[in-house]
Amino acid sequence: MLFRNIQVISFQPTYKSNQKLLYKIFANTLFTGQRLVFVPECHSTNSLASELASQSILSEGAVVITSNQTAGRGQRGNVWETTEGMNLTFSVLLKPGFLPVKSQFYITIVTSMAIVDFLKEQSVTSTKIKWPNDILVGQKKICGILIENAVQRDSIQQSIVGIGVNINQKEFAVQTATSLSLVAKTDFDLNQMLNLLLEKFERRYLQLRSGKLTELKKEYLDNLFGFRSLGSFISDGRRFEGTIDDVGENGELILLVDSKSERYFLKEIAFVI
Ligand code: BTN
Repeated sequence: MLFRNIQVISFQPTYKSNQKLLYKIFANTLFTGQRLVFVPECHSTNSLASELASQSILSEGAVVITSNQTAGRGQRGNVWETTEGMNLTFSVLLKPGFLPVKSQFYITIVTSMAIVDFLKEQSVTSTKIKWPNDILVGQKKICGILIENAVQRDSIQQSIVGIGVNINQKEFAVQTATSLSLVAKTDFDLNQMLNLLLEKFERRYLQLRSGKLTELKKEYLDNLFGFRSLGSFISDGRRFEGTIDDVGENGELILLVDSKSERYFLKEIAFVI
């Protein structure tokens, strides 16, 4: 058991000890966030969501959220650090049984596009998706996404979509991070931001569920950092120039390098920004 205070888990709107309403779902969604599990502190909302899902406690669209994530997990084994009470750190449980395993990258596309939609609504226009799913404003990262799928035969039994969005934090250990507050020069209500983001997320997920894969992929590529322009990359210790030409069915990055097409998976390549 990686978390404590399990008894505070609630399927009702959640309150802090001073009775101030912390998270209340008013999002206009069919299922996303309609079940909310709040814990004041946990290691990782993805790990907690996975544990609760394995006990069949969560239904599709359930959100697990915390104010203090102490061991947030990122891609490539990285950690996700966040200051208590300043940002959104949560995970959404999906059961995308309709989606063939070979199309699982579309969950990444849905999530990335939902964040782009959310930021656009906050008038943040210089948003880009850095492949596969870092969300940048300018060249700084504002949001990280960690998607963990459980696959059974040819379908995806369960997907845990972990989202960390920097909202009100103003100081970061690295210069490559930013927040909505730093970009917009004002503070935001976390509950309102959560509700808005869940609406955007469900809209994109329903787009996927109704088979609009081509449209989703086109919008993802239109918002992809460096798409169809020359950039620098490092793979296997080799630094080279290439142009992002496409993203393959399995989410691999397809580059044109010296007029030849090359494919790279997540751990095989890094951008040089
Ligand atoms: C990355 O950029 O490497 C991905 C970071 C993902 C962080 C989120 S915060 C909520 C959820 N719980 C986790 O442990 N990680 C994700």
